[in-house]
Amino acid sequence: MNKVISAIVLLALIAAIGYNYLRIRSLESKNQQLRRVVYGIIDEPEEAIEVADIMTKLQRYMNKMWFAQLHSNWPLIEFYIEEMEETMEVLSTSGVIEDNIDISGLMVKFGLNPLGKYKHTVEKRNLEEVTESYTNLVSNCNNCHKLSDHPFVVIIKPVTPVYDNQDYAGSKITSDDPD
Ligand code: HEC
Repeated sequence: MNKVISAIVLLALIAAIGYNYLRIRSLESKNQQLRRVVYGIIDEPEEAIEVADIMTKLQRYMNKMWFAQLHSNWPLIEFYIEEMEETMEVLSTSGVIEDNIDISGLMVKFGLNPLGKYKHTVEKRNLEEVTESYTNLVSNCNNCHKLSDHPFVVIIKPVTPVYDNQDYAGSKITSDDPD
């Protein structure tokens, strides 16, 4: 009789352990699902645009564009204008407001508009006007920095190319020799 009771108790114990095991597994998977939801929500702001990343791109294009301009490499200048336009549009259409300052709105006035003027002078292929327009573009970068509480970010005409492994004159286009 005792043996029978022991066997029943043992079976009940095994069943209880099994039940608990399944319960823990199910709670674990529920926990993982919830974490995914929570992290999804927390991660969302990271997908929003980073103004500083956009600025780094603009800075790079302004540098390269200057050297393309020095060599009157019109197709290369036009390529950088396109890239800058796209980069500025990402910001201008994203509704970024920082400390009550409408950064996206300012990007139209101090970014896209002066870039449009620069593009216009480039179309005319008048190097003197193009150079003047480039300077105007730089002033607009800085005016926006002042208006958006970043007066300490000062852009200037570059002295050295940010990358030295590119021929800004594009003079090797017709040559097969990479040197
Ligand atoms: C809409 C206004 C606006 C315009 C136009 C603008 N900037 Fe900025 N810029 C900002 C703001 C705001 C920041 C600060 C970014 C941040 O808060 O992370 C900034 C920061 C920067 C920085 C600092 C980031 C770094 O890596 O040092 C650079 C460089 C920069 N801008 C370059 C430019 C250049 C080049 C232009 C012109 C082609 C330009 N910006 C035009 C608003 C502007």
